[in-house]
Amino acid sequence: MRASVACKALLAQTGAFLLAFLAFKAGPLLGLAPGPLFLVALQSAFAIFLSGLLRLPWWWLIIQGLFLPAVLFTLSLKMPPVFFLVAFILLCLFYSSNIRERVPLYLSNETTGQALEELLPKQPSFNFLDLGSGPGGLVTYLAKRNSFGTFHGVESAPALFLISWLRLRKTFNANVRYGNLWRENLESYDVVYAFLSPAAMPELWRKAKKEMRRGSLFVSNSFAVPGEKPARTLRLKDARRTRLMIWKM
Ligand SMILES: C[S@@+](CC[C@H](N)C(=O)[O-])C[C@H]1O[C@@H](n2cnc3c(N)ncnc32)[C@H](O)[C@@H]1O
Repeated sequence: MRASVACKALLAQTGAFLLAFLAFKAGPLLGLAPGPLFLVALQSAFAIFLSGLLRLPWWWLIIQGLFLPAVLFTLSLKMPPVFFLVAFILLCLFYSSNIRERVPLYLSNETTGQALEELLPKQPSFNFLDLGSGPGGLVTYLAKRNSFGTFHGVESAPALFLISWLRLRKTFNANVRYGNLWRENLESYDVVYAFLSPAAMPELWRKAKKEMRRGSLFVSNSFAVPGEKPARTLRLKDARRTRLMIWKM
């Protein structure tokens, strides 16, 4: 699915370039001399049209239409090439998981932290896991407020892992691991929290059902598991109107 969106976007751009090139060649035959601005506008219009034909989501039509003008505008700024290299490396360090997993970076807020605090087991020495822990804000928040449990995070974006590791290195009851959440065995955790994306939920649910212990809690922020009704849903009174869906395994 991910690959097919990227392929369709590429296909539409390539098709639009070809059509604009044909128009450029055909212009003189028809007694017309299309100028560069007209050709850019034509390429953008073709890119939007072809993206629509290929049934790309509507926001892709905006991206596709703005692609060539944005490239030309950026080139006109004559920035040193190293700027693009640095920007590319930074994007990879922060967002590498987005490309692979279709999980963007957005953070759990304090209201969510408070709601999760209420859900934590009351007995000592439980284990909490944040799957895709980002810069470690949630793990840090919970670890500071609850000394009964140990709070774990797993994160695959190198820069986010590094930030969370630096944040947590002196916290006795929390840690974060650099790695892929799909390789994490969920058996030893009493509460597993996920704030990922709709794309990850079906596979994650299969994993949770297979690995999590009876009685443990699986909490998903905002994203439902298709066809699986949660035992409880908390609707938080924050600006995002966060929904926490809770399953008792
Ligand atoms: C929506 S953010 C949530 C961050 C944090 N859990 C919070 O609630 O504030 C999702 C995070 O999951 C990470 N992620 C995505 N796929 C991952 C994977 N396969 N393994 C580990 N982390 C992943 C992303 O890099 C991102 O930091």
